[in-house]
Amino acid sequence: MAPVLELRHITCGYGPEEPPALRDVSLALEPGERLALVGPNGAGKSTLFLAALGLLPLSAGEIWLEGRRVELKKRRELDRLRSSVGLVFQNPDDQLLAPTVEGEAAFGPRNLGLPPREVSARVDRALAACGLENYRRRSPHQLSGGEKKRTALAGVLAMEPRVLLLDEPAAGLDPEGRRQLEQQLDRLRARGIAVLLSTHDVDFVWRWADRAAVLAGGRLAAAGTPEEIFDRCGHLPGWNFSPPMIYWIGKELGLSPLPRSREELEQRWKRNAPC
Ligand SMILES: Nc1ncnc2c1ncn2[C@@H]1O[C@H](COP(=O)(O)OP(=O)(O)OP(=O)(O)O)[C@@H](O)[C@H]1O
Ligand SMILES: [Mg+2]
Repeated sequence: MAPVLELRHITCGYGPEEPPALRDVSLALEPGERLALVGPNGAGKSTLFLAALGLLPLSAGEIWLEGRRVELKKRRELDRLRSSVGLVFQNPDDQLLAPTVEGEAAFGPRNLGLPPREVSARVDRALAACGLENYRRRSPHQLSGGEKKRTALAGVLAMEPRVLLLDEPAAGLDPEGRRQLEQQLDRLRARGIAVLLSTHDVDFVWRWADRAAVLAGGRLAAAGTPEEIFDRCGHLPGWNFSPPMIYWIGKELGLSPLPRSREELEQRWKRNAPC
């Protein structure tokens, strides 16, 4: 089956005076896949998301959606891309435009030309999924940072995209907000929606991702399973993250398969420990 979204040899940046922020980056997202994008500040993660949605002009490269090249100069092709791929920006203030939370969730489905009853059903579902039922009439700009993030996510979920791009969705969320986000991601997974998300949280990558891609200095430094990536920690140029503690403990204890979370490690430990 063709990748649901594919970047082929993308080079792009923020103007002719600036050096390119991405250089010859290729990345494919398979249907239903959970792919984590990691890399230091300034590596090009947010730029990659903007490029993937045709929001930055490419100086080289192509975007492919479900096995077909997207002709980025054609309005209809951009619409095809943006109705299938939803992006939640790193900074929700760059995204939120409507005067109310409800209006924010309705904006995309209305733009798709859906009938009012369908728009309203989608808004209800998206607000419920993000725990925002009681925020309907609030102004997005008077919400807290975490509430704004949830509102931006609701706006994208209401489009019912087949691919979700989430730029640091957990940054700034409290532990409960993170837990709810992870539940939300599990539900999306169950519906077969592919997710590419950027994060600096290596524990989350370990727990959640099928695959990880490392950007450094605008180039793709590595891509592989989280285990392959963390096995190479310290050997990847420009990437100086430490591996997750659970990965490290699992390796030290020689466990196979490696546990993905503290809870899993505890359960396996209790099962095997002599008592
Ligand atoms: N609007 C802009 N104009 C000019 N240069 C920009 C702009 N936005 C980003 N850049 C530059 O592009 C490069 C990549 O930035 P980008 O925001 O994609 O990094 P990032 O990996 O998302 O970092 P972070 O982890 O801090 O979010 C950086 O060198 C940055 O300074
Ligand atoms: Mg960023």
